[in-house]
Amino acid sequence: MNATVDPARSLADLVIERESRGDILEKFGLDFCCGGRKSLRDACRDSKTSLPDVVRALERNDATPPPAAAVVDWRKAPLRDLMDHIVGTHHVYLRHALPALQMKVDKVAQVHGERHSEIWEVREIFSKLKMELETHLAKEEDIVFPAIRRMEAGVPLPESAMCELEDEHKKVGDSLHAIRRITNSYRAPADACPTYRAMLSGLAALEADTHHHVHKENNVLLPRARGAARKSAGR
Ligand SMILES: [Fe+2]
Ligand SMILES: [Fe+2]
Repeated sequence: MNATVDPARSLADLVIERESRGDILEKFGLDFCCGGRKSLRDACRDSKTSLPDVVRALERNDATPPPAAAVVDWRKAPLRDLMDHIVGTHHVYLRHALPALQMKVDKVAQVHGERHSEIWEVREIFSKLKMELETHLAKEEDIVFPAIRRMEAGVPLPESAMCELEDEHKKVGDSLHAIRRITNSYRAPADACPTYRAMLSGLAALEADTHHHVHKENNVLLPRARGAARKSAGR
């Protein structure tokens, strides 16, 4: 028996409880990572999306049992497991997808840039985003995640580094949003070749995976790390 989806709950909470709901919110263009604190009701109102349609789609999704790998409750699992999961899943994905996508974006700009000048803008935003994401992943793996592990041994957390990550997440979200807008939500023009179409589906997949990735960091990992730090400092 499914629980009904409560529109008063935040988008982040709904996805924390069941990861696959993120894909449904994604389809409706609702931002559950950087904008995850909004309630479902407010998010639908602000984006002029039909709340009953979203609730129905979420409840349909909930009726399907999730795959075993997706049932880890990241609100309770050890933080080190969550960080290992983020690195092993989302960082590995980015390290594979970003160079492959860069090649496609470059090729499409060269071949179709004359007829579709917007591709040059996509290329500029994507190339910058790729560099920023690569630096960001290194910062997480080399500085912030090890600091969260050390915090469990009593070493204080560098709050400024965590705030920097949140700012960078916002910038990444804005760049992805810009690419979505320029590509008309990744819709291929009639004359698009297979590489053009592969580039668009790759960019759509990048956006979807990044939303799950940033959601786990912004809405689960960082708040939990801050809470654990406060507790270990006796505040
Ligand atoms: Fe990350
Ligand atoms: Fe991140």
